[in-house]
Amino acid sequence: MIARSERGCEGMKAVILAGGEGTRLRPLTLTTPKPVVPVVDRPFLRHQLDLLRRTGVTEVVFSVAYRPERIQAVFGDGSRLGMRIHYAVEETPLGTGGAVKNAEPLLDDTTIVFNGDVLTDVDLPRVVAEHIATHAAATLVLTPVANPSAYGLVELDETGRVRRFLEKPKPSEITTDTINAGIYVLQTSTLALMPPAVNHSIERAFFPNLLSRGDLVRAHVHRGYWIDIGTPEKYLQVHRDILGGGFPVTLEGQGVAGGWVHPDATIEPGVKLQGPFYVGAGCRVLAGAEIGPGTVLAARVNVAPRARLSDCVVWEGTEVGEEAWIEGALLGLGVRVGRRVRVTPGAVVGEGTYLSDYSRTA
Ligand code: GDD
Ligand code: MG
Repeated sequence: MIARSERGCEGMKAVILAGGEGTRLRPLTLTTPKPVVPVVDRPFLRHQLDLLRRTGVTEVVFSVAYRPERIQAVFGDGSRLGMRIHYAVEETPLGTGGAVKNAEPLLDDTTIVFNGDVLTDVDLPRVVAEHIATHAAATLVLTPVANPSAYGLVELDETGRVRRFLEKPKPSEITTDTINAGIYVLQTSTLALMPPAVNHSIERAFFPNLLSRGDLVRAHVHRGYWIDIGTPEKYLQVHRDILGGGFPVTLEGQGVAGGWVHPDATIEPGVKLQGPFYVGAGCRVLAGAEIGPGTVLAARVNVAPRARLSDCVVWEGTEVGEEAWIEGALLGLGVRVGRRVRVTPGAVVGEGTYLSDYSRTA
């Protein structure tokens, strides 16, 4: 047991909950499920897999329900990443608890569970070591946030034992700033509490049931980096954080003017560059365009002369017309932005949209 904590998480399996519909990121997620939305230069879950692999976890179960084929097409059996990926596919979505239950036959005695939309630098081997040392039935990673109402509120006693779990509390119910970070270490035997093959919430049913049964549920409070990328604001924020060095990711590309340019991208002379930014594979930015702070061009994005971009995420295959101005916005796959279009802060533009010349988003 102690040896395991010294070896980090080596040999442990993780379940990644990757079956939600990503409704708050619509329209981007209508065609691209949240687990594979690009985050800077790679599909989101690659960032999570990178974290897991560094701690020694090489075998992962993806619990999938919404557009599973898109996720499978990206990650396959994991061999390209030096991992083994299994898929527990739900016919109909089983909820966050039902999804873990559905993966049960593939799991060992102790399991790591990750919500498939959180990015964090939590010290997972330490969480696992604490879990084992305290003989907890479940150990939850918590993180402090300014407004817990969008999350699961978790109350502790002075020893770090969980006393109460309250999903999406009303303002009057907020008693602490620590919320469920969506990362758990569980004794797999506790899954017996969940009925098989029915929709079941890990937050609203399983954890409260575990607590009322008197099982030891402990918390590890993480005060480092943590974000749930599930809303347009947070999705834009994670890009700012990665570009600004708040969450370190080794991006493929060369450092230019405080940003990164992929070796297969073309930036013509006479483009005004102000970092941090990322220009991905196959992008072409023509003379006279401006790439400002916080711009991410995922791949194969063409930017015409005198277009101005800042603080925005632009997915593969998008065309930005002359003198277009994009700021604080998200643009999905293959969008066409006409001449002199103004894409305003907060805009989320879905796949294949055509914004005709001179239009504006708000
Ligand atoms: N397989 C499967 N099946 N996965 C699901 C299902 C399902 O039916 N429903 C949701 N998921 C996945 C989502 O894809 C996501 O990765 C994760 O479960 C959590 O679902 P969200 O819809 O993103 O929940 P949330 O963000 O509102 O709240 C959850 O995360 C917060 C932290 O970000 C809760 O766990 C909160 O307690 C927590 O604070
Ligand atoms: Mg979420």
